Amino acid sequence: MGKSSYVLKGNVCYSKDQNTIVTYENQYLICVDGISMGVFEKIPDIYTGLKVVDYTDKLIIPGLSDLHTHAPQYAFRGLGMDHELLQWLELKTFPEEAKYADIEYAQKAYEIFADDMKTGATTRAAIFATIHVDSTILLMDLLEKTGIRAYVGKVNMDRNAPEYLLETDAEQSIQNTLRWLERCEGRYERIHPIITPRFIPTCTDELMSRLSEIQQQYQLPMQSHLSENQGEIAWVHELCPQAEFYGDAYERTGMFGGDVPTIMAHCVSSEEAEIQRMKERGVYVAHCPQSNSNLSSGIAPVYHYLEQGMNVGLGSDIAGGSSFSILRAMTDAIQVSKLRWRLQSGEGETQKPLTAAQAFYMGTKGGGSFFGKVGSFEAGYEFDAVVLDDSNLRHPQPLSVAERLERLLYLANETHVIHKYVSGESIF
Ligand code: GUN
Ligand code: FE
Repeated sequence: MGKSSYVLKGNVCYSKDQNTIVTYENQYLICVDGISMGVFEKIPDIYTGLKVVDYTDKLIIPGLSDLHTHAPQYAFRGLGMDHELLQWLELKTFPEEAKYADIEYAQKAYEIFADDMKTGATTRAAIFATIHVDSTILLMDLLEKTGIRAYVGKVNMDRNAPEYLLETDAEQSIQNTLRWLERCEGRYERIHPIITPRFIPTCTDELMSRLSEIQQQYQLPMQSHLSENQGEIAWVHELCPQAEFYGDAYERTGMFGGDVPTIMAHCVSSEEAEIQRMKERGVYVAHCPQSNSNLSSGIAPVYHYLEQGMNVGLGSDIAGGSSFSILRAMTDAIQVSKLRWRLQSGEGETQKPLTAAQAFYMGTKGGGSFFGKVGSFEAGYEFDAVVLDDSNLRHPQPLSVAERLERLLYLANETHVIHKYVSGESIF
């Protein structure tokens, strides 16, 4: 693959800010050593020696970021969706995740996941594995070969799950985590570990506080779930009566934003105090609209989060979500926000439906910022690019580049993704 310098010619689109998508018709997007130099009408003299790749009439968008997904759940996506969260975990998810104790099963299943991640529009992801060290390393090895960049977490669970998917106690969970981190050291260029307590109900206080020590020692980011479902929230209040709210239970362990880059998936029913704490501490919200629909969790107040200037990205949350497409997540986010607005628009309701620009922002620059300067083609951003060919979506009328992009958010599938670059590397 190799990082290189080149020019892509095509219809370039990216988010300037949450309300503005900029488009450039058949212009030149310049990559030098994996970094974007910006978009130009004519190739500036200093770059005239670079190879030009001609994607005239195709669309070129920043790589998409999936801020929340579960690799071991990919195998059963679209199955067993007639439950709410806690029942679904017990009946469907935990039995499936237990299979990853078997490395041969993990090999078969994770190969499929890695192949699809390679050819989809996602260039960055934050991924949950399972509690199993060997199969988590296998997943990371397979992802490293795809060329995408990702954080992968070995999951920690030491309570409130069936014995077949539990670490025996905090000590064992910590030893497994240290063993996993040792094996990661020096092994990867593109894949990095992330501390991953599944959620408060499956992690004892002792486990959380020892994970926090590891987090500090290794300076790792963390990911978990927050305020997804009413039953889950009530359970956390019972388990942690001292916590002011669910997110406070994480903060008391030292892992809730601040110096710890943190992703919290869902935040569907966060109370205002929790929202303000997330904002103060720069916690990333991974909005997972399809999962929240499938598991009847509700509709997160994302318009509010964006208006507050909080960090928000999109997540597929496979297999709560059935599609791993972040283009699909964009339009799901728009659609559920319209239902929320229609159903809740009473007095005091100020949350308008999301716009296409806001949804595109969340899937590119908003979520991308978790990974550094990612998700835009402004000069200085890492060069993650996806080339889309919409020529089989026929139309009789003229369409602008902006209209073609909007249409693709609704209509694109993996067959429209024809080339992908990650941090300057050509993936396919
Ligand atoms: N909360 C704890 N575990 C999970 C999971 O696997 N999926 C979702 N959607 N929520 C969770
Ligand atoms: Fe999840």
